[in-house]
Amino acid sequence: MSKFYITTPIYYASGQPHIGHAYTTVAADVLARYHRLIGDNVFFLTGMDEHGLKIQQKAEEQKKTPQEFVDEIAESFKLAWEKLNIKYDNFIRTVDEKHVEGVKEVITKLFEAGYIEKGKYEALYCVGCEQYKTRSELVEGKCPDHLTEPELKFEEAYLFKMSKFKNQILDIIKNDKVRIKPDSRKNEIISFLEREGLNDIAFSRLKKNVYWGIDLPFDGDHTTYVWADAFLNYLTGLGWPQDKEKYEQFWPPNVQLMAKDIFRVHATIWLSMLLAMKEELPQEMFVHGYFTSGGQKMSKSIGNVINPLELVDKYGADFVRYILLKEMVFGSDGDLTLGRIAEKYEADFAKGLGNFSSRVLKMIEKYSDSIIPQDEKQDRPILDSKRDFSENNEAFWALYEQNLSGYAYNLVLSHSVFNLAISENDKYIEQTKPWEIAKSGNEKKLFAVLYYLAESLRQITIAIYPFMPETANKIREQLGIKKIDENNFDFYNEIKWGGLKPGTKIGKIEALFPRIEN
Ligand code: MSP
Repeated sequence: MSKFYITTPIYYASGQPHIGHAYTTVAADVLARYHRLIGDNVFFLTGMDEHGLKIQQKAEEQKKTPQEFVDEIAESFKLAWEKLNIKYDNFIRTVDEKHVEGVKEVITKLFEAGYIEKGKYEALYCVGCEQYKTRSELVEGKCPDHLTEPELKFEEAYLFKMSKFKNQILDIIKNDKVRIKPDSRKNEIISFLEREGLNDIAFSRLKKNVYWGIDLPFDGDHTTYVWADAFLNYLTGLGWPQDKEKYEQFWPPNVQLMAKDIFRVHATIWLSMLLAMKEELPQEMFVHGYFTSGGQKMSKSIGNVINPLELVDKYGADFVRYILLKEMVFGSDGDLTLGRIAEKYEADFAKGLGNFSSRVLKMIEKYSDSIIPQDEKQDRPILDSKRDFSENNEAFWALYEQNLSGYAYNLVLSHSVFNLAISENDKYIEQTKPWEIAKSGNEKKLFAVLYYLAESLRQITIAIYPFMPETANKIREQLGIKKIDENNFDFYNEIKWGGLKPGTKIGKIEALFPRIEN
């Protein structure tokens, strides 16, 4: 049994959950569920980033205390994850007392070791990003993400000596000591480091400006820079430094997921912090793309924001999980519109998976008295041995695993699940015409075909489980077999062809996906 520690970014508690937050979190949940399924010991961490100027300002605008403000937003995120069936192991909040203690401990150690020193800092700062910007990153003097002009800050600050780590980080990334995926991101960060190098960075803010932050333990006039605070969540989320049990079991992360917006800070600030702390580095960072809607950035003013909760209310959690991962190549940008979503629900869920499942079950009901028949292998027509699910089962699962561990979610769904497992078997029904075999009275052939289809459906439930856990178990109930318990599942045995026992009585057949009026 291996351990598998996966993290998402911790999201700013400055606004409601967005489809982009849902995307990363669902992607992480799918991998976490898959790893539990294959028997790994999994820790899946997500949570909230709750300090800093942006949140302080938003709370002030709404005449709330920052604490009240972040408490409300954290609840909305928790609710969103509950509705989307996200099974995290911890939901870390940077206002948690233990996290705050952990941050103070690290900052003190870095200060004592000489990695943090008092100085003066002058730089352009974008509050929207809570990040410093170089002039070359600006477009017409503005932050390209927030379309605002960054403020020029010149103040006393404690500086983190990040410049020391440039060569080490280059070596680490070039030699895959931390694997950066996809390769294009690796090349991009290497050329950035070679071109621009690394500057020291302010790790504190004057408390009179940013009071909503963690006090610097050694200087009461300052609070900790929000990113220095936030990165440490990946450690404190395991209970570290107070309780080392989970840390010893799970550190370092097997993979850290994030979008391209925050990759550079992870590759520079976060890795430098770990090097200064002499902690082991994450094994991999996977950087995915950005969702737009109708070709444009989702924004309230354009009115094209897709709210993940409204989608769940309309289509159910499994479909939302599916559409996010199916529509976008993980690692590239993608686009989603409400029209496309409605289309895919109809085609892939109502007509595709829903229809296939009910067709198979109804034939078992009608032609075999609701009992899974004997598998009369030798009597089954094999129409195309290259695409026959039973003949190619091992290859199917090998490809499934290969694609999933390479984060090719869209390929797993479109190719393995919907093409090979569902469409091909639907064609098999069309071509073998079980209703005609029934008329001809060839019971052995009929049973052979029915068994093959029912076993295919059982296999599909395993393949879709990490993506659509509710649907997988609904189908299993209708097939009359045990629901999947991901913490207790003999995966490699279960995926062997032929696991469905003849004689099993199927359950009540119910529509999986109701038609939805648009
Ligand atoms: N708080 C920081 C992260 C600190 S991690 C130590 C932050 N928060 S955020 O709320 O802005 O979240 C950014 C992340 O949300 C992205 O990296 C990505 O995971 C997700 N997404 C938010 N909008 C997105 C899209 N439109 N498309 C895809 N994912 C995006 O940055």
